[in-house]
Amino acid sequence: MLTFTVVAPKGGVGKTTLSANIGGLLRDFGFRVLLIDADVQPSLSKYFDLAQVAPYGLTKLVSEGFLTPDCVSTVQLPFGEAGFKGAHLLNPTPALDIVLSDTREGKLQDWLAQRLDRLVRISMALNQDAIATLYDFVIIDTQGALGHLQDAAVNAADILISPVTPDVLSAREFIDGTRHLIARHEEAANMGFKVPAMKAVINRTENTRDSREMSSLIREAYLHLRGRVSTVQTAVHSAVAFRKAATAKVPVHWIDPLRAADAMHMLLWELVPSLQGQYAPNHRNFGNPDAVLDGFGPDSHDPDGQ
Ligand SMILES: Nc1ncnc2c1ncn2[C@@H]1O[C@H](COP(=O)(O)OP(=O)(O)OP(=O)(O)O)[C@@H](O)[C@H]1O
Ligand SMILES: [Mg+2]
Repeated sequence: MLTFTVVAPKGGVGKTTLSANIGGLLRDFGFRVLLIDADVQPSLSKYFDLAQVAPYGLTKLVSEGFLTPDCVSTVQLPFGEAGFKGAHLLNPTPALDIVLSDTREGKLQDWLAQRLDRLVRISMALNQDAIATLYDFVIIDTQGALGHLQDAAVNAADILISPVTPDVLSAREFIDGTRHLIARHEEAANMGFKVPAMKAVINRTENTRDSREMSSLIREAYLHLRGRVSTVQTAVHSAVAFRKAATAKVPVHWIDPLRAADAMHMLLWELVPSLQGQYAPNHRNFGNPDAVLDGFGPDSHDPDGQ
């Protein structure tokens, strides 16, 4: 089981979008995926429709330090509905489950503040043998602010995924914020906790000089973060398809099986190199692992504005 935590020191940079789409693509690869919405604003909880809503969610997971079935809701994807490209090719069987955010602003944070073991409240819930046999991947979405909940989500990760948008303000805030976040967790590393490797993902690139310059600036800035952060080569372009997908409550590769699907495949392959060459069944290269994804560059332009 591999756990990703999607974290950023800034709001609105694409954490929830990446969480939902990486989760959805892994599911369509045939993996069993658990999403955890650890944001007090329950955006990931609302991204997909639900087939079954569990009576409990994040609060119980954190406060009991145990993941029980009554915390796990099930996502409903609209298989069989018209309008989704190649959805009939997808396998309806693999699981896409979610632990919903049910915490009122501040309440869980306050509870955690009283606990000496607050840093490990999520990791201890996930480190049970039973969970590892149920899920291949866990993806935790977080809020864009430091806090005990974010700390616990970071501590539970094998890999931190950190979206950053290529604009000056966002990049600056991001670099300072990331430095701070890493320093904060390195203090805990002195007590024997690991600091997960962070992979920065440049999200919402445009085909402009400014966007390209900011992307290189971000890549350079991370070279100085003591090897803790690497920027993945795949940048995710800005595309209407991401918003359309959120509206339709499906992963973006159901809406745009060409460019957005390619970007998400390449991102996933970089994050989990053993997946290289695997495709979702609705992808044109499915069954042809030697095919290459062409017509796609890290910062290239989306000609049809998708
Ligand atoms: N690559 C993209 N192209 C176009 N729109 C995008 C892209 N990524 C995200 N968006 C849009 O940007 C907005 C913010 O994204 P999202 O909600 O994922 O950010 P967030 O980091 O989770 O925000 P918050 O801090 O509020 O939780 C959403 O409307 C989303 O649809
Ligand atoms: Mg969000």
